[in-house]
Amino acid sequence: MMIKFIVDAQEVETKADELLIDLLLRHEFKIPCVCYHHQLGPIQTCDTCIVEVNGQLGRACATKVSSGMQVQTKSARADAAQREAFDRLLKDHMLYCTVCDNNNGNCTMHNTTKMLAVDHQRIPFTQKPYEVDATNPFYRYDPDQCVLCGRCVEACQNVEVNETLSINWEDPHPRVLWDGGKPIGESSCVSCGHCVTVCPCNALMEKSMLGEAGYMSGLPKPALNGMIDIIKGIEPDMGYRSILKVSEAESAMRESRTRKTKTVCTYCGVGCSFDVWTRDRHILKIEPEEGPTNGISTCVKGKFGWDFVNSSDRLTSPLIREGDQFRQASWEEALTLVAQQFTEIKAKNGPDALAFISSSKCTNEESYLMQKLARAVIGTNNMDNCSRYCQAPATEGLFRTVGYGGDSGSIRDIENAGLVLIIGSNTAEAHPVAATRIKQAHKLRGQKLVVADLRKHEMAERADLFFQPKSGTDLTWLCAITRYILDNGLEKTEFLDQWVNGLDEYYKSLEPFTLEFAAKTCGLTVELLKQVARMIVEANGVCILWAMGITQHSMGSDSSTAISNLLLVTGNYMRTGTGAYPLRGHNNVQGAGDHGAHPENLTGYQKVHDPEVRARFEAAWKVSLPSTKGLDNFQMIEAIHASKLKAMYLFGEEIALVDGNSNNVDSALAKLEFFVVQDVFFSKTCQFANVIFPASPSLEKEGTFTNTERRIQRLYQVFEPSEGSRPDWRIIQGLANHLGAKWNYQHPSEIYQEIASLTPLFAGVTYERLEGYKSLQWPVAADGTDEPLLYVKRFPFPDGKARLYPVAMSIPAEPANQEFDLHFNNGCMLEHFHEGNMTWRAPGIREKVPHAFLEVSPELAAERGLQSGTWVQLISPYGKLRVRALVTDRVRGKELYMPMNSAEGPVNLLTGSHTDSVTHTPAYKESSVRMVVLPEVGESPLPKTNSRFGHRTPQSGVEVERKWKRADYEMPKGEPVQDAAKRN
Ligand code: SF4
Ligand code: SF4
Ligand code: SF4
Ligand code: FES
Repeated sequence: MMIKFIVDAQEVETKADELLIDLLLRHEFKIPCVCYHHQLGPIQTCDTCIVEVNGQLGRACATKVSSGMQVQTKSARADAAQREAFDRLLKDHMLYCTVCDNNNGNCTMHNTTKMLAVDHQRIPFTQKPYEVDATNPFYRYDPDQCVLCGRCVEACQNVEVNETLSINWEDPHPRVLWDGGKPIGESSCVSCGHCVTVCPCNALMEKSMLGEAGYMSGLPKPALNGMIDIIKGIEPDMGYRSILKVSEAESAMRESRTRKTKTVCTYCGVGCSFDVWTRDRHILKIEPEEGPTNGISTCVKGKFGWDFVNSSDRLTSPLIREGDQFRQASWEEALTLVAQQFTEIKAKNGPDALAFISSSKCTNEESYLMQKLARAVIGTNNMDNCSRYCQAPATEGLFRTVGYGGDSGSIRDIENAGLVLIIGSNTAEAHPVAATRIKQAHKLRGQKLVVADLRKHEMAERADLFFQPKSGTDLTWLCAITRYILDNGLEKTEFLDQWVNGLDEYYKSLEPFTLEFAAKTCGLTVELLKQVARMIVEANGVCILWAMGITQHSMGSDSSTAISNLLLVTGNYMRTGTGAYPLRGHNNVQGAGDHGAHPENLTGYQKVHDPEVRARFEAAWKVSLPSTKGLDNFQMIEAIHASKLKAMYLFGEEIALVDGNSNNVDSALAKLEFFVVQDVFFSKTCQFANVIFPASPSLEKEGTFTNTERRIQRLYQVFEPSEGSRPDWRIIQGLANHLGAKWNYQHPSEIYQEIASLTPLFAGVTYERLEGYKSLQWPVAADGTDEPLLYVKRFPFPDGKARLYPVAMSIPAEPANQEFDLHFNNGCMLEHFHEGNMTWRAPGIREKVPHAFLEVSPELAAERGLQSGTWVQLISPYGKLRVRALVTDRVRGKELYMPMNSAEGPVNLLTGSHTDSVTHTPAYKESSVRMVVLPEVGESPLPKTNSRFGHRTPQSGVEVERKWKRADYEMPKGEPVQDAAKRN
């Protein structure tokens, strides 16, 4: 409903229930507001937004608009109250803008000083009795500059929901506290950067900004202090307005050398987007603000994990193997050699003797070109990408049941669920920003959270119900509760009748899955299973999230199918707050598969064996195309061992570390006649290459990524490609042309034009529609209409109905036995990404997690006589590795857990070659080992400065009521100030 009212004698119209401050800011009424941030909501700590509403003073940020209200933003009383409130803030904040690294035109304290035309402080600046805290590697807190607005607290408590920050309002000298008063570096702070991003001044600053952003802020400390003294000295005579003119000139000069470029995070599949502030090749900071997925949110990797881009380890020239050595070569020589070798191998053995692996780190356009090279230039469908290692089973489960291999909706739709069920996903570490939204909904809006996992990770600790099924038994309990729901008539009959096929056959298939059987198989109780079933049927909307704990099993596709079946039976599709959310691991793992990096699919899941599809591509590409499904990654390794596959071209993929059973993969790679690797660094995989092409990471190129929500977003070039490297799309095009292709793409937008013209799923995707922070969630119709929420009108099957898909009982391969008696679980961690090629090159991240570690339960540690720091050797049927133990109750009994991020001791030395039976995704999670306790005992592998050792201090938010209760607090009264200057 729209309403009208008066602001400063002007009639305004807006939606009922809006916050007055939002309206005032939107209509550009000049109103100070230091603590308000629209993504945080009203905090009410600063009082600077006081206005007169119907003759009464009140905070605009806490006032809902109402019809006919009379608002005065600049009446004498309002103006005086605003000035008084701001004066109180200046008591806590020294204005030395000219030499401040935050003087970039967006400092709220500076801008408010200017808006109110403050000349002199009535309340003098007073130092607080605390030191600057610089104990976090990425940011520092300066209590003397902190105006106690509480934005950081609100962001940490209720946006990130890490619950580290608070303010000791009752203290004579309040300040921001970490874990109630610890040094930052010893607290539970996960370095996500939310607090730094929202701080309205320089109290919290990225260390990468310090001394770098300003022209004079980099002066040595004594000189800087001298400058500050000078500024303070002239302030009584000159007044702030004159001094601000100098600082504004300095700020304007910064504009010429500070670049702000939008990019999309290169790490996980959440797809956070933000501006990268740079000065030459120095990254000043990452500034998230309006990204459609993340807003102000980031995790440590996206906010602070970019040092790898300027690492001295970057490859600087193509390399050609000579014996056991590599020598530098020109691009021309390297491309010519590869083209020659590919041509010869193809001539001798046929096109299927070559294989191509695309990268889920690289852009959609690059995956498209790679598969075009494989299919149109070489003539093979031997084309895959690393979704084979994680997400292919989830995609399969969704194709079987609901028709699209992607998340049903957006993260916003997950927020709207009555209940979120997380299975086999350590969301807070693997998809941190997605997790923040669930933690928020759970903390603030009463969303129910159920977690099934082997480990008691953060989401498990927060859950209303957490249970630990035995490894590899999720399929069983999922089917059993679905059967229980159907047995008891708790299903959504109307939904099933109208929208779902195959109920009878599916119901029959559930016969073996009684609750009793499931309880016994999964190590759970019948009561618990009934409770889970009840919670699901009683919830107002259920979203199920899952990840590698489900997919990396021999029944990964079937378990994913069982999840979707359960959602269908309970009517949990077709509306917000419902649906299936397989959380994609890499930034572009969704996009790589979407764009044809797959042995059977061209772009948009169009099948290579469909003659109509092939004809369309053949006409466009002017070639004839192979029609039979090619080899996937797993089959490629087998085919090398069988001497059928002779050559491989792989880019942006660390296959030697990340495929299961590394020793077997390594011996295959060593057997290749010709192996081309394209990477940013000399990776482990490079060791097996004949030719290495130096590539550029995401910050050095343009293109698009597709996140876990099917959201296509543009990234812009932040830096020129570093010396000797090239963007992958240029390298692939160069090679195609050396093979005679005559491609002439000048910009990735031209590649996308071609993709859109050939792919109904992306028909309306254009770079213009993706300008800046705009995004599209596929399918995208030709007119640009996208579908953030899938299946709203129908399922994409011919009759518009979903399909229940029966799955059979199956058990995990290679369970623990007498010889290999411990289950070896492995997966992601917050700080490092994947095998660590990027994050190990970020010194701050290494400081927080310097070593590989193995989580061992307290029970097992006691039984085997080990402690944190004890070296152990793990031995599996496939290999062995040495690692230090970390004793923690995140694991229990005979469960071990090791993050996968170590090149020193990669987990895949231990994993086997068994796979999901449908997609060949390695069953990494089905590994058993024996543990030999070694005599050496070292330090704990995880330093005490790691956030896992911190103690959170949850509270409802900034708790401003405690400030209002202070004896020395009263709300500004609005008593006019005689000599106040006219405000700007
Ligand atoms: S976790 Fe740390 S970096 Fe993140 S908002 Fe809280 S205090 Fe700031
Ligand atoms: S450190 Fe926190 S309380 Fe202090 S000014 Fe910054 S956001 Fe406000
Ligand atoms: S949550 Fe994922 S996409 Fe977002 S900043 Fe972290 S790693 Fe990047
Ligand atoms: S902006 Fe309203 S009290 Fe701070």
